[in-house]
Amino acid sequence: MKNQVKIKKIINPFKKQIIVSSDKSLSIRCVLLSSIAVGKSKIFDLLESDDVLNAIKAVKKIGVKCLKKANYYEIYGVGINGFSIKKNTIINAGNSGTLARCILGLCSATKNKIKLIGDKSLSKRDFKRVIKPLNLFGVNIKSKNSILPLELKGSNLLRPIKYFENKGSAQVKTCIILSAINTFGITKIKAKKSRNHTELMLKYLNYPIKIKKKNNYDLIEIKGLNQFRSFEYKVPGDISSASFFIVLTLLSRKSELLIKNININPSRIGILKILNLMNAKIKIINKKNYKGENLGDIKIKSTNNLKSINCPINLNSSAIDEFLLIFLIAAKSKGISSFKNLDELNKKESPRLNIAINFLKMIGIKVTRKNDDIKIYGRPNLELKNSYYIRNFHKDHRIFMMSVIAALTLGGKWKIDDKDSVNTSFPRFLSIVKKLGGKIN
Ligand code: S3P
Repeated sequence: MKNQVKIKKIINPFKKQIIVSSDKSLSIRCVLLSSIAVGKSKIFDLLESDDVLNAIKAVKKIGVKCLKKANYYEIYGVGINGFSIKKNTIINAGNSGTLARCILGLCSATKNKIKLIGDKSLSKRDFKRVIKPLNLFGVNIKSKNSILPLELKGSNLLRPIKYFENKGSAQVKTCIILSAINTFGITKIKAKKSRNHTELMLKYLNYPIKIKKKNNYDLIEIKGLNQFRSFEYKVPGDISSASFFIVLTLLSRKSELLIKNININPSRIGILKILNLMNAKIKIINKKNYKGENLGDIKIKSTNNLKSINCPINLNSSAIDEFLLIFLIAAKSKGISSFKNLDELNKKESPRLNIAINFLKMIGIKVTRKNDDIKIYGRPNLELKNSYYIRNFHKDHRIFMMSVIAALTLGGKWKIDDKDSVNTSFPRFLSIVKKLGGKIN
């Protein structure tokens, strides 16, 4: 089958330096925010993955000119409330929850209806989380069971809201912030901690947004209708993409890897904190600040000294996209690891918690589950000999890539379907695997 990879050999020791694809969250935010800036923004190293290309298509549909140049994109911002939205506009967010949820906030003032659709996986995901606050702003949304397809009809008489975002969802938070920008007055959000790229970008753009930290929450105040100017941005590497190679290195023999220029925003590096608590000794060097974001190079060495973790729940949100990999590490660690409150994991591109549990059991790891808490019984000497076929995982890019890393480090013969899923977030994934010496057919 064409869209399948076969792996039957673990990777040989490597000592290399790589760069991974640019950050998806930052790329999507660059597209959305530059679309309401005034003037021509230049975005360098924009991630050219399906999710981000769909963001570009989406803003083009509502009247924003975007041009691809040699190594940057030009985005001609139309200003706040400046979109020209034709009747019967349909926006297809593809696989991207971030794009789908955030574009609703961006377009909350539309007078013409917008229909929002997505692929099979996105059409199963929950939109109540954004419909609720958008309704409070005065936005009208029609949908059956709060899933896609849905129809958005905004208003130019939006009212500011006070909202408690208690899921720790950056998508919901960003949706509200973008809608608040369209709204006269001050919107107040109490948000459980989640990635804060939108806030940092707005701060860099001198937008009137105030953030106070309170334990595991942020108190955000945002003043609407403050126009900002176009900007330049160079998107750094994605920690979520880097994580596949961090784990590949940790689980390989006698290997070392340096991953250059990664966004190490504290709200994103839960995986590094968790793996270091498990004895991984990952280092960050060459730290710097870029337009409010922290960047650095990540240095990893393989180890056979990993130990289990009782994972602190306050790290869940900053590691939310990396749990599949963290579970793989737990499977190869000494002792029983425990993870709690993972309900959000089942609300991603696929029900990742369910799939991960089946995956771990398939490779001979004992897992117990109580509601959304799991325990993983590690086997440091686990070496696989059987054949494994990974399929029917809703084309979830992260399940595909995690399976490849498992195949390259645990042994056995593997067939993994839906290779194209990498295009969602990390188109260069397989070419980097090959560069490090991974044999893939
Ligand atoms: C993202 C937020 C997270 C994450 C997703 C990207 C973002 O989702 O899982 O991959 O860019 O805002 P939630 O906000 O639903 O947790």
